[in-house]
Formats: sequence, structure tokens, C-alpha cells
Amino acid sequence: MTSPILPEHAWFNEARYGLFIHWGAYSVAGRGEWFRNRERIPQDEYARLYAENFRAENYDPSAWAALAKEAGMGYVVLTTRHHDGFALWPTKQGGFHAGKIGPKRDLVGPFVEAVRAAGLKVGLYYSPADWSHPDYPGPFFRDWPSEKDWASPEARERFIAYYKAQLVELMSNYGKIDYLWFDGCIPDDLQREDVNEELLRLQPDLLINERNGPPSHVKVSEQAIRAPKDKTALWEACMTLNGNWGWHAGDHQWKNAHEVIKMLCETAKDGGNLLLNVGPKPDGTIPAESVNVLREAGEWLRRNREAIVNSERSPFSWNNWGRITVKGSRIYLHIRNGTGPELCWAELKNRVLSARWLCDGAPVVFEQKGERLFLRGLPVPLPDPLANTLVLEVEGKPEALTTQTSFWIPGGHD
Ligand code: GLC
Repeated sequence: MTSPILPEHAWFNEARYGLFIHWGAYSVAGRGEWFRNRERIPQDEYARLYAENFRAENYDPSAWAALAKEAGMGYVVLTTRHHDGFALWPTKQGGFHAGKIGPKRDLVGPFVEAVRAAGLKVGLYYSPADWSHPDYPGPFFRDWPSEKDWASPEARERFIAYYKAQLVELMSNYGKIDYLWFDGCIPDDLQREDVNEELLRLQPDLLINERNGPPSHVKVSEQAIRAPKDKTALWEACMTLNGNWGWHAGDHQWKNAHEVIKMLCETAKDGGNLLLNVGPKPDGTIPAESVNVLREAGEWLRRNREAIVNSERSPFSWNNWGRITVKGSRIYLHIRNGTGPELCWAELKNRVLSARWLCDGAPVVFEQKGERLFLRGLPVPLPDPLANTLVLEVEGKPEALTTQTSFWIPGGHD
């Protein structure tokens, strides 16, 4: 059960949108972040061909932070250590890290500083699962080992002590950290409450996602936008911009700004965040395709920010012209499919007090006839190719005439 939102966690809903960065030794291959597992690459070969050649020569975390700002995001989450086990900071736990191999310097410290300097919240991703560690049950499971695959109970305990010590370093050496993003907490019996509790002692305001078990604060939906049942929970959908998290040189299936804004409205309509991923190249530069899409979507967000940040769970169901977000007594209609000068929306119980465009405040003519709201004089075609946001001020708290009763296919209607 998730506890009510604490004031120190309020930034999360205020942000609504964050940048996920998958970057590490795997970026050298340009085949995603799982290729070591898929290709059954032995540790010495992985270290020699990839970690050694990871140089981070154009690493400029202030450029990452500037991009996140331009995109309209409120936080950035970096993979400090992915399943390959290669730590981006000079950890004292073992020798497989960026201080010793590859870049031969700390990459986490400059990231934290740059993100904080840009006024953004700092998120660190960490995967306990570690394919490089002798006590972790094997790197080549398809996909994950199970609880019975530990070599012995002692191996499991040693491994837990190791990953806990790495996390203690991350939570002790870089000042305030806002968000710990756990992934790869598998097998389940490596999850330990005492680990999360210890980290919260070190960083009392820290948000922790749910993947390492309790105590945690943020529910996660991966490559899907699915709000949790608990309507008070903080939640986040993490999504890729193409089909991969880590840099993949052959994956050109980029989402466009239209799809990004659609995803953002979709998460915001249920009061959740969108954590959108980029996979920088090994030198540290973010692929131009990602940069362009983030900037374009950012321009939309500059015009329509109010409709996204701190949005509440919308009581409204689907329609075939766009998405609806809600905050206080305001309803934001994000119209994507314009079909003419008139739009009829027949889902609202409240009396409408005013209607206007969010971007310039121009009033919109409306008429409420019984259960139907007519909005008139809409421009044809609608000017904004990403989404045209119209604000309704209503009497009282927005309510739907009837709640959704039957199933519906998410995303299938517009
Ligand atoms: C998965 C993958 C991983 C990726 C993560 C992001 O759990 O194992 O590669 O980092 O999802 O959510």
C-alpha cells in the first residue's frame, strides 16, 4: 500500500515528464543493452571489446540537462549501473567500473552536478542484477535466473551485501539524490527491505520505485501506459523513443513528436509521469533523431504546460478526437483529430463556465444542451499538428455523466 504523497515528493507530479538515459559500456556495441546476454559474451571479452573501448570522449552532462530543460522535463534518470555490472562511478566494490576501465573517471558526479545546476531533479537508475559478478547466478539466463539458481545461500548473502554497498556509495557520495530507479531486482529474493530502509536513512527525501520491493513510492509501467489501481499512488510510464533503451545503431523506428505528446497526455490524464528514454552513443552524444523529437515536443509543452503538470486522475473515458486532462475545476481537451468547426462532447456532468484555447486565451463559443456540450467555430484545419488544447472552466469538480462500464482498448481510438 502506497502512503499519501509527502510534500517532499510533490515535485514528481509537478514534473510529469522526465528523461531516462541508458548509457554504459554496452553503448559501444550499438546493439542495445542486453546484447551481452543475447550473444552469450564471456566477461573477459565483454570487458576487452566494450568496457575498454567506452571512452565517453564527448560526455557533456550539462548538454543533456539543457536538452531535458528544453524538452520541458523536470528530472533526469541515468543508468549508473545496468545489468552488465559496469559501474559508471569509481566504486570500491570490485574493479569493473569507469574509474578504472574505459573512461577512467567518474561519470556519475558530473551528471549529478549538471542536472542539479540546471534546476532539475536527479534520478539514478541501478540494477542489482549483475552479469559480471561471480555470485550472481549466470549472465545467460533467458531472461532471468530464479531463486533456486543461487550457488548457495552464502553466495546470495554476499551478493546482497555487494549491491547494498554500491547503493550506499551512490546515496552517500553525491549530495542530495531525488529518485532511485531500481531495475533488474531479480530473482525476487535479492529484494530486501533493509536495503531500501538504509538508503532512506541516508536520503530521507528520496523517492524509490517499486522494483526492489517495500518501502517504495513510485509504481512503474514499462513500455505501456497503465495507471495502477491505487488511485493515490505516484506512478510513471517509462517508454523508449525507438525500440531500444541502450543505443542501437540499426533501430531507426523513431517515434515522432506527435506520438510523444500523445503519450504525455495519456499518462497525464491518469495523473502519471512519462519517463522518456534516450540511448546516447558511446561518446556521450544523444542521437540527433531523439534530440529533434524532444525539442519539437518541448515547444508544444511550453504552450500547454498548465494542462500537464500536477494533473489529476481524469474521470472521463475515451473518445475519438483526443485526450482529456483534468486539474481542479479545469478540464483540458487535447484535440488531435479535428473534423470540422463543431465538436460535440457528451460526457460532462458539470455546468461549463467558460471555454478558451490554452495557447492564447482566445474564447471558444460553446453551448450545453442537456447532456451534450457543443464547441463551435473551431478552426479548420486545427493549427497545432501535435494537439490543440482547449480549457473548460466548470462549476465544481469535474465529473463524468456515467463511468466507463465495459472494456475498451487503450489507445485504439485516436
Ligand atoms: C527492462 C530491461 C532493461 C531496461 C529497463 C527499463 O527491465 O531489462 O534493459 O533498462 O527495462 O525499464
